Amino acid sequence: MTEQLQGVDAAAFRSALSRFPSGVTIVTTRSAGGTLHVFTASSFAALSLDPPLVLVCLDQGADCFAAFIAAEQFVVNIVTPAHAKLAKKFATKGADKFAHGTFESDEGGYPALPDAAAVIRCELEQAVPGGDHVILIGRVHDAQIGSGEPVTWYKGDFLRLGESAT
Ligand SMILES: Cc1cc2nc3c(=O)[nH]c(=O)nc-3n(C[C@H](O)[C@H](O)[C@H](O)COP(=O)(O)O)c2cc1C
Repeated sequence: MTEQLQGVDAAAFRSALSRFPSGVTIVTTRSAGGTLHVFTASSFAALSLDPPLVLVCLDQGADCFAAFIAAEQFVVNIVTPAHAKLAKKFATKGADKFAHGTFESDEGGYPALPDAAAVIRCELEQAVPGGDHVILIGRVHDAQIGSGEPVTWYKGDFLRLGESAT
């Protein structure tokens, strides 16, 4: 028998979601005590231009969950194909995620990837529950563009950007 999620076939749901290509981000924060936290996220999206808001969805079962919902700020790093290995590492529970040299810190001590396609720094405006995730809404206070092209996440793989369809 196929696994059902509230009446929806779980495999079909996951498979349908995997047909939606997205970018990949590495999201970081720093707790009041100075501990750094990070997770890989494809659920990043623009929410509002004025005020400038973005969102990212975080699993309530993540080890870093408590740190992110208590955070004052978080940083969204939009990653390039060169970061695929790193993105896999930051998607691995229990990994040593802050090996020396990966991140550089801003004045507030928040970690950013120096060669990301873009780095978006946010104040945590709201954390809105959504099923087994929480929607972290960030008010953007700084955005920087890097030189690399972003990577694409599609059907469980990291891909380079394709050609124009028009
Ligand atoms: C490409 C990719 C995208 C992911 N996107 C999300 C996401 O949007 N939200 C999320 O909570 N977890 C996402 N994950 C899984 C988390 O990165 C992973 O569970 C992470 O280890 C959670 O942090 P923790 O180690 O503190 O538990 C994604 C994993 C991959 C490989």
